[in-house]
Amino acid sequence: MSTILNQPLELSNGAVMPNRLAKAPLEECLANFGGGPPNNLHFNLYDAWAKGQWGMIITGNVGIDRRFLGIMFDVVIPDPADVTKRAEYMPAFKKWARICKGIDPNDARHDDPVASRGDRALVVAQLVHTGRQSIRCAGRAPWKPPMAPSAVPIKTSEESSFADKLLFGTPKELTVAEITDIIHRFIEGAVYCYEAGFDGIELHAAHGYLLSSFLSPSVNLRTDQYGGDADRRFRIIKEIIQGIRAKVPPSFVVGIKLNSGDFVRGGLSEEDALLHVKMLDQTKAVDFVEISGGTYEKPVFLDPKFMAESTKLREGLFTAFAQRCHTILPQESKLRLIVTGGFSTRRGMEEAVKKGDADGVGIARPATLEPALPKKLLDNAIPDAQAVQWEPSSPPFFFPRLPLTGAGWSMLWFTAQMQRIARGEQPEPNISMLSFFWHLLF
Ligand SMILES: Cc1cc2nc3c(=O)[nH]c(=O)nc-3n(C[C@H](O)[C@H](O)[C@H](O)COP(=O)(O)O)c2cc1C
Repeated sequence: MSTILNQPLELSNGAVMPNRLAKAPLEECLANFGGGPPNNLHFNLYDAWAKGQWGMIITGNVGIDRRFLGIMFDVVIPDPADVTKRAEYMPAFKKWARICKGIDPNDARHDDPVASRGDRALVVAQLVHTGRQSIRCAGRAPWKPPMAPSAVPIKTSEESSFADKLLFGTPKELTVAEITDIIHRFIEGAVYCYEAGFDGIELHAAHGYLLSSFLSPSVNLRTDQYGGDADRRFRIIKEIIQGIRAKVPPSFVVGIKLNSGDFVRGGLSEEDALLHVKMLDQTKAVDFVEISGGTYEKPVFLDPKFMAESTKLREGLFTAFAQRCHTILPQESKLRLIVTGGFSTRRGMEEAVKKGDADGVGIARPATLEPALPKKLLDNAIPDAQAVQWEPSSPPFFFPRLPLTGAGWSMLWFTAQMQRIARGEQPEPNISMLSFFWHLLF
């Protein structure tokens, strides 16, 4: 019996994933405080994933603006104008790309950044601007506001809570000049990753971060060319994609992580999300879409309790949406859909691919517990292979009981597992959070 997950997947630009399993993005929290280049801890972690037989490895989010990070310890690409810092960080980025590809960083035979695909994972760097979800002190000074299409603050409950104000605050509405600067940073970020030897980039336009908030009618209230109907809200993404394509060769993979919906009242609807997928296809410049859903206000991508019962019963949280995407895309479309969220068994993944809902399957949390999970899933000799099923421990009594911090606690727990792998240790279900914070800070 051979598993369909073993079949290679050709993306629209001809790049090939050797199988259908993608290591979905996971913020590593391993860089220096304030954001920095990848370091030895990243190299150890990605070495473990590189040995895991993944079809694609997507990095955790890489900031394109040091002021707006997901957390204080993210990898960041220096400002386009900071030529000195860009040159200083480049060797670490090059080493990171090579390690992800499973190539000896000192092997000069592999200098062509897009050589030898099809037999190893495609290696893709995820680029992000966190927008209104930028946490205070994660790059920006605590008194500076986050940036968003419009000045709409985050509400993780009915009203904006004290925790929301403390963590985020009210964002500043971006001027057109600031939007132009952001577009430039994304484009130059992609070029930087190309020069470092990555096979491609993925724009993070899901989970409520900046690009995702532009797509959302409840956060984007603009009346200029970047706001309005689904078409105008998509404009910033279109300009970024066109700008990237003008600067990198067609063989460089351009992907995007997109929400199937925001799951908040007035937020991005499934109908608009479908239109966005159609628009992406029409650009003929995008090779894959990774499908997810939710924002910090409703983190469905981490907690399906925010979804309808029927959806929860499915193993893949967003496969129903992916199925709808295929119905609106023209037959000849080569846009590939990678669906991430909630997959844990070989059977569930096979079903999603066999039914044609997903072209590929993204796996995030299980990859922190079993970095070489594909080896198990792709080996038919192992019956009914499934991911390790550990539940994160409960938050300690002093941890605030808010929906956002609940998801945050679970993220910390999975981050702690990545930190163990990065330090050469095995994942541990009974991890001590005290030791995790110790290693995070010192
Ligand atoms: C610790 C942690 C870090 C994450 N970091 C990112 C990230 O940097 N970028 C991103 O797009 N998604 C991120 N996610 C979300 C995952 O990519 C994925 O969408 C989500 O976990 C659902 O997939 P899963 O059920 O396979 O875990 C993160 C999730 C966790 C648990």
